[in-house]
Amino acid sequence: MPSTSTASRPATAAGHRVPAQPVPELPILGYDAIEYWVGNAKQSAYFYRSALGFRLVAYAGPETGVRDRASYVLEQGRIRLVLTSALQADHRISAHHRVHGDGIRDVAFRVPDARAAFGAATARGATPLDQPYTVRDADGRLVVASIAVFGDTIHSFVERDGYDGVYLPGYEPVSHDRLTDDDPRPVPGLTEVDHAVANVELGRMDEWSAFYQRILGFSQLRHFDDEAISTEYTALMSKVLAGGGGRIKIPINEPAIAAKRSQIDEFLESYGGPGIQHLALATDDIVATVRALRARGVGFLTVPGEYYAEARERVGNVDESWDDLAELGILVDRDEEGYLLQIFTEPMQDRPTLFYEIIQRHGATGFGVGNFRALFEAIERAQERRGNL
Ligand code: FE2
Repeated sequence: MPSTSTASRPATAAGHRVPAQPVPELPILGYDAIEYWVGNAKQSAYFYRSALGFRLVAYAGPETGVRDRASYVLEQGRIRLVLTSALQADHRISAHHRVHGDGIRDVAFRVPDARAAFGAATARGATPLDQPYTVRDADGRLVVASIAVFGDTIHSFVERDGYDGVYLPGYEPVSHDRLTDDDPRPVPGLTEVDHAVANVELGRMDEWSAFYQRILGFSQLRHFDDEAISTEYTALMSKVLAGGGGRIKIPINEPAIAAKRSQIDEFLESYGGPGIQHLALATDDIVATVRALRARGVGFLTVPGEYYAEARERVGNVDESWDDLAELGILVDRDEEGYLLQIFTEPMQDRPTLFYEIIQRHGATGFGVGNFRALFEAIERAQERRGNL
């Protein structure tokens, strides 16, 4: 989000306790946009369009009257990503990039009333970042506000019911994205953000879990904290917070003590603190999606062939062909409500930080805990190759 304030107090979850009485859930309509602060938004936008099949729908920069930054708005299905770079060295986006590399700055929520959301969150103890402000152009008006969360990550509240423009004032629509629209390759068919996962420091998971419950009225879906999710070498703990009538799901991970360095520690060190570890993007046909992404050069973590014998046993019948799943390296898990298919990309930048999950749900509402061991062993093989295990 463009912001009017540069004041930034470090957010703290310290002292947050799960309230005895549940806090009313903050009305949230869904994810509005995911904004990345990157070193070179022009080139990142090319990558997201060519490799992941996003369409460029709007741009803001010097040509549209924005002097200090360039932003590219990309869409696929109901997913909206915004890639932003600073144009000057002494810009806070440049400072952010020096510490974190490319990463997600803002998981923005669309809300019916941004002032009310900001007012309720800050009254309950959220660190205010951008006070609510109204922006207008010929397409109408929006109200935007934001709060700080873990690390340098923020949540903006965006009220856009009175706005017909493509994204925000200052952005010029791109009606035809030649690179994507004229691309003969099959489109990946990603439909929406399924969940966004945070990595926080050792000992901070409970605080942030309490923060989402106390400040935003989220509820805890399920947790594995009694028993850390672990492999022979590394471990993590995780809690899942859900809000917005179930539209928003934020699992929060922290490292756990194990024989070797947790993948969460590797992230925290590489990102320079807590942040968004992965974004899960949904599809209605994961076999076609992964085939399309692989053909476009997206790299995925691989599991050993033995995984599929074990998975068939564990999961039972699925609609998809096991041959397709094994060929593409798609993982399968089942819970009480159904099954899900998932696969994880390699990190999207040289720092081993942000990556993506592609997920298709057949009723299952979980996060693939049955796959965690196979998955973590795949991550460890990659960590080992980077000399970070
Ligand atoms: Fe996930």
